[in-house]
Amino acid sequence: MLRYLPVRRIHARQVLDSRGNPTVEVEATVGEGIVGLDGYTAKAIVPSGASTGKFEAIELRDGDKGKYLGLGVEKAVANVNTKLAEAVLGENALNQSYIDHLLIQTDGTENKSSVGANASLGVSMAVARAAAMALRIPLYQYLGGCHTRKLPVPMMNILNGGKHADNTVDLQEFMIMPSGAGSLEDGIRICTEIYHFLKIILKERKLSTAVGDEGGFAPDLEDSRDVLELIVQAVERAGYEAGKDIVIAIDAAASELYDEERGVYYFPGESRMKGEDIFRDSREMISYYEKLTEDYPIVSIEDGLEEDDWEGWKLMTERLGNRIQLVGDDLFVTNRKRLGCGIRLKAANAILVKVNQIGTLSEAMDAVEMAHHAGYRAIISHRSGETEDSFIADLAVATGAGQIKTGAPCRSDRNAKYNQLLRISENLGELAVYENPFQGYGD
Ligand code: PGA
Ligand code: ZN
Repeated sequence: MLRYLPVRRIHARQVLDSRGNPTVEVEATVGEGIVGLDGYTAKAIVPSGASTGKFEAIELRDGDKGKYLGLGVEKAVANVNTKLAEAVLGENALNQSYIDHLLIQTDGTENKSSVGANASLGVSMAVARAAAMALRIPLYQYLGGCHTRKLPVPMMNILNGGKHADNTVDLQEFMIMPSGAGSLEDGIRICTEIYHFLKIILKERKLSTAVGDEGGFAPDLEDSRDVLELIVQAVERAGYEAGKDIVIAIDAAASELYDEERGVYYFPGESRMKGEDIFRDSREMISYYEKLTEDYPIVSIEDGLEEDDWEGWKLMTERLGNRIQLVGDDLFVTNRKRLGCGIRLKAANAILVKVNQIGTLSEAMDAVEMAHHAGYRAIISHRSGETEDSFIADLAVATGAGQIKTGAPCRSDRNAKYNQLLRISENLGELAVYENPFQGYGD
């Protein structure tokens, strides 16, 4: 039996992400240990956020303004090729927890500020993928075990705003979820059709069909209601029923709207469109969401309030938490400590999981496990800066999270994930489980 699969080689290089910013790619070679295997080499590329939470693990950037406007990752690459490689060479790739423990220990800080979370994550993912390859099993099965068969329902971000676009839409993401679909294939098809119909409607109205960082359209619209009306129309034009076949999820990314000095949320786009300054305080934000969820089939709101407003989150969860999913992204940053705090306070009822927010695979998987134990949902997520690496598609299946957030069905950095999910679905065949995560919600 194969018990020992040594890490033989770790090599990092600087490559580009979907926004044209440098990021870390790591190649890991495993094998040729006492069992005499040939080497298996796999690579992984690290994603990068724009509306980054202030409690995220540190993404190490060079800061050399003469190169890539200071965004180079040559230091992180060097850390992989020296310190992290030294730490894991010869260690057992089949023991992912131990590999990740070594990465954490080598960094030695709370937030990976020494080697960079982009350095540690690249090694963590590449080693996992190489181990799966050596065992000749799919990555999702390696990470999830032999009982893994639950496919995630996509949260497709079809309309972009906030920091991901240059339009007047203040809330960052408007997503559709194919809750009524019978399979992942149908779910992806239905959402994609709606995406195309949304484009047709935008064209008819002479609105921009340019897309934001996650592939969703980014027209100038007056406010959230305008966006939601448009989405409901696109759903209907595509021949589906909003609230039945399709439900809506929002990522407000409220930390980006928060004006710390004044202690309120400022809506710059809405203010511009309406010609007056629009502010909302924490309570008004909650009432605002309450009203939107009464008028539209919204089942999930992410980062409805900013990352330090625990009291507000508690109140929002009391008011809305039994009806809809309240997701902590910047609030929890895939960090068990912050999630633990939320669970104790009954703040939010779901966590967004982004592997680079924490910097190793094991820590991200721990966060999912902790959430599930507490009755919280987990949603595996991409970043706004992505790559062709489809790792999170496998991770979403492996963790049985039941939901994945990976952008519009547009641009290969986003479709790489959907395409990988389609492959996994085919691989699972009849055994695939695809369930509406909102069954019975709000009953
Ligand atoms: P980010 O956005 O990757 O820019 O942080 C995604 C999100 O906020 O969910
Ligand atoms: Zn978010």
